[in-house]
Amino acid sequence: MKNKIDSLLEKREEALRGAGEERIKQQHEKGKLTARERLEILLDPDTFEETDMFVSQRSTDFGLEKVVIPGDGVVTGFGKIGGRDVAVFSQDFTVLGGSLSETNAEKICKIMETALRIGIPVIGLNDSGGARIQEGVVSLGGYADIFLRNTLASGVIPQISVVLGPCAGGAVYSPAITDFVFMVRDTSYMFVTGPNVVRTVTHEVVTSEELGGADTHATKSGVAHFVYDNEVETLLNVRRLMEYIPSNFMDPVPKRNYRKKGKELREKLNSLIPEGSDKPYDMKEVIAELIDDDFFEVHATFAPNIIIGFAHLGGQSIGIVANQPSVLAGVLDINASIKGARFVRFCDAFGIRLLVLEDVPGFLPGTEQEWNGIIRNGAKLLYAFCEATVPKITVITRKAYGGAYDVMNSKHIRGDYNYAWPSAEIAVMGPKGAVEIIFKKEIASAEDPVAEFHKKVDDYTAKFANPYIAAARGYIDEVIIPAETRKKLIFAFGLLKNKVDRIPKKKHGNIPL
Ligand code: HXC
Repeated sequence: MKNKIDSLLEKREEALRGAGEERIKQQHEKGKLTARERLEILLDPDTFEETDMFVSQRSTDFGLEKVVIPGDGVVTGFGKIGGRDVAVFSQDFTVLGGSLSETNAEKICKIMETALRIGIPVIGLNDSGGARIQEGVVSLGGYADIFLRNTLASGVIPQISVVLGPCAGGAVYSPAITDFVFMVRDTSYMFVTGPNVVRTVTHEVVTSEELGGADTHATKSGVAHFVYDNEVETLLNVRRLMEYIPSNFMDPVPKRNYRKKGKELREKLNSLIPEGSDKPYDMKEVIAELIDDDFFEVHATFAPNIIIGFAHLGGQSIGIVANQPSVLAGVLDINASIKGARFVRFCDAFGIRLLVLEDVPGFLPGTEQEWNGIIRNGAKLLYAFCEATVPKITVITRKAYGGAYDVMNSKHIRGDYNYAWPSAEIAVMGPKGAVEIIFKKEIASAEDPVAEFHKKVDDYTAKFANPYIAAARGYIDEVIIPAETRKKLIFAFGLLKNKVDRIPKKKHGNIPL
């Protein structure tokens, strides 16, 4: 038996050496960690249990028979984050550039299927040259097998993609289907076609970083939800994300200990809204006053006119969707609508309660927005809020104008608790715009049109720029003193904890994609 055990240990050692010291050195020289080093940072110490360590590739074409490395180009298995089980795969760039082979795909699919059966998240660390070119269609099939499992697992278990190197061609579509994408500045990039193809086809000259680097995807395309300066910071923030999300759609959302401190009043909120209705303020200051500790912002630099992210409130993990009056006055445009909608759907799928903080002047006008489909894209956010059955609470801090009033989790679309601050202005449109339309003739024929315009604006403001007409109809459940908001939210989320709501039986809805 001893011989057999020794032989097993030897085989294990060979697998751990991977493609060898030289390749590992090259990986480090690029400022990147190896597949196993990454897992050590991601997972709780000594919790990684590797699977399929001895699986190696089967191809004999183009000299591949000489590159048979145990484990092939991916490390797979299970481990723990904060004591909770997760399934992981970590592509090993030192083996044929982490390229995806038939056996590679089989290993990944295997842990995905297990994760789906037992209800635990899948975290994929991507660092790959794409489809293993020597294998041809077999490798493409492997990608499709992964895409299918990504799709079937969507909404059942959280799926997180961490891009730590190249991720190009069709390979990008696995991260794209997953719930969150993390990237690292300067060492990771994602694109469907690289700079060379771009130069040939469109004659644009662009670097990899410009075309598909971390900041590009975090600000321009919205593909990346989180971006950090190095791999360690990135992996530690994946751990942090796990503090807010459950292991599957049926499990309870993680909780933290919460001890009520005093009356939970936040006096600063009484003076945060500026006197002039057109003056900006930072909604993140409102968020900071309302939540227990830190705000974990998602998509921080993409469409910053809307804020989304996770926090704990009264110990409970919640998702926050908030207009940001300090960016484009908090207007809803195409990107803001898409960003908000996907987040609302993630939270709803995984039972994470939603808090909406509303100060929105409406949808952004203009040909650019109309021609690019603000109608169908704005509808995504509306659809997502309408469909969501988790506890949903709205606080209108100031403007709630036009269609945006309806969209931002209004009472009419099943908002459970709708609060307004006394500074709320709830109307079809802002006073100036409204007066220009409905009093056009009267103003034009007045002796002093300017004075008449201002008088009408004052009249309209006095009548509509407040929360009381909506409150009189029951569209607002309570007009509250801002300082009391945290206390009210803890009460309301507590009240709603056993909420049951349904959508009609169907195969699936048809969200305007
Ligand atoms: C096989 C690959 C490979 C691949 C890299 N390697 N990519 N082997 N299939 N796709 C091998 C290299 O031959 C090399 O082996 C080793 O990995 C390291 O690669 P280098 O090129 O030396 O590394 P680097 O200079 O860092 O460049 C990395 C890279 C480049 C930018 C990723 O390797 C590259 O352009 N690879 C091809 C990318 C590509 O076009 N993939 C197909 C995309 S289409 P040796 O032994 O020489 O060191 C696709 C379709 C998916 O993926 C469709 C799904 C629907």
